[in-house]
Amino acid sequence: MAIQWFPGHMAAAKKKAAEQMADVDVVIEVVDARLPEASCNPLVEELRKFRGRPCLKILNKVDLADPDATAAWVTHYERDPDVTAYAMTTKKPADVARVIDKVRALAPHRGQPTKPLRMMIMGIPNVGKSTLMNALLKRRVAKVGDEPAVTKQQQKIYLDLNTVLIDTPGLLWPKIAMPSDGLMLAASHAIGANALIEEEVAVFLAEELLRRYPALLKARYGLKVEALDGIGVVEGVAMRRGYRVRGGEPDFEKASHMLLQDYRSGVLGRISLETPQTREAALAIHIEA
Ligand code: G4P
Repeated sequence: MAIQWFPGHMAAAKKKAAEQMADVDVVIEVVDARLPEASCNPLVEELRKFRGRPCLKILNKVDLADPDATAAWVTHYERDPDVTAYAMTTKKPADVARVIDKVRALAPHRGQPTKPLRMMIMGIPNVGKSTLMNALLKRRVAKVGDEPAVTKQQQKIYLDLNTVLIDTPGLLWPKIAMPSDGLMLAASHAIGANALIEEEVAVFLAEELLRRYPALLKARYGLKVEALDGIGVVEGVAMRRGYRVRGGEPDFEKASHMLLQDYRSGVLGRISLETPQTREAALAIHIEA
């Protein structure tokens, strides 16, 4: 997989995240609703617990995720009394508008001009941190304290008199606990899949789709999925779309790319790659092995 998690990187990321967290009242952790555990970094939880900070856990891109799986994840995360789980999409201004109220509810002792509520967005690449940040800034009403010199120096932006957002999202790499995490992240484009492994990622995705969303495969590509495995699905996509290489064989590379694109863009349907149950089962197998 593209990301290597060396001890040196880990120590540096931990130090940076610990420093950033020391100055905030609430951590806004953004994950991808389609793969909330694979797209998180356990450092956020470790450090916020250590510092006693509450967390707004945003399951973003809910427009692409399976609503039943998302509901199960929200229940799962809210077992922690210091966590509010919020399933949303940055594409809906109404969803973005609720973020700050949810953060405020987590730190009611803050939020006055003398004690402004300080928050920071954290998460791995590509989960939507910058999009969320920009959407929050667009909604900003008061412009107090955002002169360039002030914000540069303090790295803070006042959303209003009582509410401050650290101006750079805290970036962490995913912690790839098991190989399927890397494949889920690559399928969802959170980490890059180079041309060589794109086919491996597509076969993984096809197997997941066969297991949990066969009807979506049938509807999109007209495949008779009953007798197929992951490789068969990708070949089927190639044949249906007329992707062939010389000699008439299915163009596996092109079909892999198409399947991944269709999943990422949502045209295949709303698909989650993990649920609390599948995660638990996968971890149990991984630990046994
Ligand atoms: P980051 O700061 O965490 O790295 O993520 P960023 O905001 O750059 O968003 C990554 C991609 O995710 C962007 O698409 C962005 O438009 C998309 N995105 C963010 N929020 C949502 C959401 O709620 N729903 C959907 N469907 N997409 C969302 P991109 O630049 O086109 O990248 P990619 O999708 O091709 O990887």
